[in-house]
Amino acid sequence: MPLIRIGCPQKAKQAEIKSLLDATHRAVLSAFKVPSNARLIRLSVLSGVVSLDPFMRGRMNDRKSYAKPLQVGDVMVGEAVARVIASHHPDYSEGDIVLAHTGWRTHALSDGAGLRKLDPGGPVTTRLSVFGMPGFTAYSGLRVIGKPQPGKTVVVAAASGRVGSLIGQLAKMAGAIGIAGGPEKCAFVKNELRFDAAIDHRATDFPNQLAGACPDGIDVYFENVGGAIWQAVLPLLNARVPISGLIAQYNGVGHGDGIDRLPATMREILSKSLTLRGFSNYDFAGQHYAEFLREVGAGIADGRIRYREEIVDHLEKAPEAFIGMLDGHNFGKTIVRAAA
Ligand SMILES: NC(=O)c1ccc[n+]([C@@H]2O[C@H](COP(=O)([O-])OP(=O)(O)OC[C@H]3O[C@@H](n4cnc5c(N)ncnc54)[C@H](OP(=O)(O)O)[C@@H]3O)[C@@H](O)[C@H]2O)c1
Repeated sequence: MPLIRIGCPQKAKQAEIKSLLDATHRAVLSAFKVPSNARLIRLSVLSGVVSLDPFMRGRMNDRKSYAKPLQVGDVMVGEAVARVIASHHPDYSEGDIVLAHTGWRTHALSDGAGLRKLDPGGPVTTRLSVFGMPGFTAYSGLRVIGKPQPGKTVVVAAASGRVGSLIGQLAKMAGAIGIAGGPEKCAFVKNELRFDAAIDHRATDFPNQLAGACPDGIDVYFENVGGAIWQAVLPLLNARVPISGLIAQYNGVGHGDGIDRLPATMREILSKSLTLRGFSNYDFAGQHYAEFLREVGAGIADGRIRYREEIVDHLEKAPEAFIGMLDGHNFGKTIVRAAA
């Protein structure tokens, strides 16, 4: 498995990442024993799916963040849709389908904390994508920080992904422009997700194409990527930037051209009274999660909200799929079916 394709500059760091992913494998394959604790629930992810998310890359860096880094030997964290295979908990029964923080493994135990029962008749995998944490990131960042207005222009990077794909569909009263990598993703963003336009950031004249598509500038830029895309967006900005993620920078490679752009960036922020605000979706959950479930749930049910999921079979393939996602090889939400 090409584990060290993670584009990390230092050899030592690459070895550390490989070791962390190997440890995840060992945990996956290790024997699973059930203690005789009266309230424990035994979860099976065997017939379920495990989520792959960009934030997991941050857990592999040993630096201060909103969450503690993983140590070598830890299991990779993350959400899964799981089936209860045994329960001594009064609120859960065998066969229940739940959303659970199992991490990357085929089986897990839970005391019920943080579990959410799902309607087994619904499209349960969406609870890991548009109807779950990534969708809520889009919803809350756009509503609380972006505040799109009719007739204004909203731009989002990684527009075919699970966060970005929802932005254009929620911002329909404004003009929505998606940035994506390659013609296939751009066609999906424009034709299937019904954005007003899609621009390929891999095109050599990407900055000119973006400027041409936004003749009055960009009123809301929903930032998922950073790097070269941010450099093309900055001169066009008029107003607000919810900063959701900077995936182009997570591997710590690509030191750019060595030019310090901070003074120019600060000048743009000051001279145009720009508002840039970083956020975690958890910041807004208390106030907005219920309305998100209502609004986006209705949109999924009647087909107004569209999404794309990519299923990878076997948990052993998770590291490879994860590394590919950081290179843009995924198309839509990547979920791993723990066992085919
Ligand atoms: N703040 C929060 O609470 C929160 C929660 C969830 C996610 N996020 C952030 O939201 C962003 C999107 O996450 P997601 O789960 O929806 O992932 P995603 O968009 O489904 O997948 C990642 C996409 O990012 C793009 N990408 C990767 N490397 C790139 C690069 N070097 N330059 C340009 N584009 C690149 C690729 O799309 P293209 O091929 O189209 O370029 C890739 O498909 C991430 O930054 C993530 O950390 C934040």
